[in-house]
Amino acid sequence: MHHVVRTACRGRSLLTALLVLLVLGAAGGTFAWYKFFREEPQPEWITGDPDMRFKYGSIGAERDAGIPYWIFYVLPRIFPDKLPGPGGYASFGVVWEEGQELPVGFSKKVVGFPRVANNCAACHTASYRERTDSNPVFVPTGPSHTLNLWAFFRFLVDCAKDPRFNADNLMAEIRLVTDMSVLDRLIYRFLIIPITKKTLLERETQFAWLYREDFPPWGRGRDDAMNLTKYFMIRWPMDDSFGPTDMPSLWNLGKYKPEDGMRMNFAGDSHDPYSVIIDSALGLLGAPPKDNAEFLAEVRWLQSYVSAKRAPAYPFAIDETEAARGKNVFDATCASCHASARTGTVIPIAEVGTDTNRLDTWNEKAAREANAVVRDMGIDRPGLVEAPLTGYVAAFLDGIWLRAPYLHNGSVPTLHDLLEPTASRPATFWRGYDLYDPERVGFVTRGAEAERIGSRHEVAAKGGGNAGHTFGTDLSAPDKRALIEYLKTL
Ligand code: HEC
Ligand code: HEC
Repeated sequence: MHHVVRTACRGRSLLTALLVLLVLGAAGGTFAWYKFFREEPQPEWITGDPDMRFKYGSIGAERDAGIPYWIFYVLPRIFPDKLPGPGGYASFGVVWEEGQELPVGFSKKVVGFPRVANNCAACHTASYRERTDSNPVFVPTGPSHTLNLWAFFRFLVDCAKDPRFNADNLMAEIRLVTDMSVLDRLIYRFLIIPITKKTLLERETQFAWLYREDFPPWGRGRDDAMNLTKYFMIRWPMDDSFGPTDMPSLWNLGKYKPEDGMRMNFAGDSHDPYSVIIDSALGLLGAPPKDNAEFLAEVRWLQSYVSAKRAPAYPFAIDETEAARGKNVFDATCASCHASARTGTVIPIAEVGTDTNRLDTWNEKAAREANAVVRDMGIDRPGLVEAPLTGYVAAFLDGIWLRAPYLHNGSVPTLHDLLEPTASRPATFWRGYDLYDPERVGFVTRGAEAERIGSRHEVAAKGGGNAGHTFGTDLSAPDKRALIEYLKTL
């Protein structure tokens, strides 16, 4: 019975579609432009407030990389089996503010029809809770240590590959949640759904390295960013490199002075903040900007926003006497790299000794090619460093309490662990749980909840190594305690 009704409906829809197409042809381009390309500004509550703009504002990615709003809406309902856990998109560890229709880092904009895309805040917004019974605190420009980006990328491709991703199923679900005009329904059924499926499927080859059995999942809070750039921006054939890193914090970005030899990204592969922001935004757009001047104005806005932000203060008590003593320890043991002319510059890998996989994901040739791609778009920037990678940047440590887990690949859960010799650091732990641990200074990485919500990190897995950076590991226990107390104040 159900089946018959469906078939009859479909026969009628097809007829109507033909009629619509005739009308479309007659009315000409204006109508098609209106239905597919007209851009409506986002609402004032987003554009008028800097934090809201960072969290939900469009950077222009909806046009080429956007997903039609209603498809985005119904995918978790149709494919709950492909989610990493219960709870819809929340299961990806996105930061979700109460009362918002979309998670932080997801922008909604009308380009012909409402579309959803991502902005910087998806990977650059931290969340933490002080106690099990407290509300989460969200910190725009902090690292998204809970986000399971790997699972999110795979989810979209896996849905598109599934035969259940078809107009009948999607329209049935969409009609349960919204009333569309007959015309819009037809446009969804015959154009938007098939085109979206095709577009998502086209990403499969470029995402092939996410499906390799010999690579571990990235886990929450990590992103293999340089491989993304290689496979999407310069379309390199897949190689065997694999180097997911933590999401960095962006606050106080103005502290990086390229003129003093400072470099951006964990391995110092980019010259300056302006270039990194351009490249990050282009990655999100997935295509050349529609209008370079408009695009660069957005880049400038982002740069001034993140430069003006400051790291949030440590939310728990600090023993000031201990911290003052800890500053002396810091000055003697850490400042030579973290508060000196070396800060923000690349420290040779032989000196820091941390996992090298991230270095293998990028090289001089890739930099040349990526720079050429951006130049060909008519965008002028200092860009990626056209030289071999030799080590990792000694980062500024402001807000370090909120940047756990530590080291570029997030292989050391807490500051307490970082001051232990490699063999005494945890070999497995759960990352991506948002409860803060003021004892060890980092997030809680063990126990039932951390294991239920977080993803398991194995230091023995490719790209997960926790060796190196043994500075301060031979300090006395009281000196370590004092040093950690001082680090909380940064
Ligand atoms: C998909 C996740 C993701 C998105 C979206 C994203 N970033 Fe990032 N960003 C990263 C990761 C991961 C790194 C570190 C890459 C590395 O060095 O391996 C990074 C690095 C950076 C850095 C360098 C930080 C430092 O201390 O060296 C800046 C600046 C930056 N991103 C800005 C932005 C801006 C602005 C946007 C939006 C236009 C953006 N990012 C979008 C994940 C993301
Ligand atoms: C010889 C230079 C050098 C010295 C000395 C040094 N560090 Fe580092 N530090 C680095 C480098 C380089 C990195 C990045 C390594 C990586 O991510 O693989 C780093 C990373 C870190 C990180 C992780 C940052 C993050 O965002 O995850 C912390 C925390 C840190 N150092 C604290 C300290 C403390 C505390 C001391 C003193 C006990 C110290 N460092 C001494 C060079 C140094």
